[in-house]
Amino acid sequence: MRPSERLQRIPPYAFAELERKIAARRAAGADVISLGIGDPDRPTPPLIVEAMQEAVSEPQTHRYPSNRGRADFRAAVRDFYARRFDVALDPDTEVIPAIGAKEAIFNLNLAFLDPGDYALAADPGYPVYTGGPWLAGAEPVLMALEPEHGFVPDLGAIEEGVARRSKLMYLNYPNNPTGAVVPAGFFERVVEFARAYEILVVHDNAYSEISFDGYRAPSFLATPGAKDVGIEVFSLSKGYNMTGWRCAVAVGNAAALEIYWRLKTNIDSGLFEAVQLAGVAAVSPDADAEVASMNELYRRRRDVVCDALRGIGVDVNPPRGTIYIWAPVPEGFPSSAAYCEHVLEQAAVVLSPGAIYGPAGEGWFRISLTTPDHRLMEAVERLGALAERP
Ligand SMILES: Cc1ncc(COP(=O)(O)O)c(C=O)c1O
Repeated sequence: MRPSERLQRIPPYAFAELERKIAARRAAGADVISLGIGDPDRPTPPLIVEAMQEAVSEPQTHRYPSNRGRADFRAAVRDFYARRFDVALDPDTEVIPAIGAKEAIFNLNLAFLDPGDYALAADPGYPVYTGGPWLAGAEPVLMALEPEHGFVPDLGAIEEGVARRSKLMYLNYPNNPTGAVVPAGFFERVVEFARAYEILVVHDNAYSEISFDGYRAPSFLATPGAKDVGIEVFSLSKGYNMTGWRCAVAVGNAAALEIYWRLKTNIDSGLFEAVQLAGVAAVSPDADAEVASMNELYRRRRDVVCDALRGIGVDVNPPRGTIYIWAPVPEGFPSSAAYCEHVLEQAAVVLSPGAIYGPAGEGWFRISLTTPDHRLMEAVERLGALAERP
């Protein structure tokens, strides 16, 4: 059986590979602790589960949903954006439910890119920013996120010809994998750039609800002019421990959302209405205390991990957002993959090699804080013991 040319152009999805390696080590009897994938270990908050239970017992939720989404879900998202980000949204034209951010991000490529077009993709970045354009027959163009620029792309370094051929730009703050938050003034520069080159900005807002030390992440749409040039994909996966539920929204520029909707009506049949009703509970003020307590849990884990890494000589900056620690590979290893392979073989701890997020991630590794405390402590102790071995 031969996969399509399109599929052959993209490497296997990195986390699928990682899962295979973990399974092999476990089958060989190792007690593997995975700090790899960013999948919250805590259950979905009870108020969201209860809303789902109630909704699922209502037969009218069992039918095909509309791709436009339920009016109450769209109104709840409007209220959330006003309350949380001070962004006004028209729920009839500026909010569309998505079956997870991954669906929206992938499908936007099909909706906007033709062969020969470019999509500007943060490097390192979420793999769908590159896989999506390839599968759409277009080309991703990487924008390196360097620590000396605060992990934001240098827009001035994008060649004129490239900018002119670019139709989409993917950004994500708070950022996976670097944990960076957006520096003041950057989103304003993005709006100016996107206007000049007629690029649709897609801000992937997967982590805004996870932040520490008093920091509150903004929406891209709060930037003056952002709605003229962009949309934001807001996912409920990470902030509300809902990765398995597949619940997100695309919000912002109405004309762009209309095109996305047109594509979606040909591809999927919308988001299960019971999940939309669970989403209403998630974005209501009633869930704020749950979000705050998750942030406190991640802050504590972040501090434990950063202290431990510093203790073994790794120079790490504690992130102000996301569930990730992004740290430089210790000296003596030729690549991030070699270091992570060594840690998996010798300590049975899974780290993500930075290079799987793009070439600019080489020399770094990522730790996800979504592992129960006692396992995280054990992993950190194993890393310490490994570093002390001659
Ligand atoms: C930056 C980023 N965007 C999107 C996603 C996927 O979100 P969803 O579960 O809503 O598809 C992830 C998941 O890891 C992510 O890190």
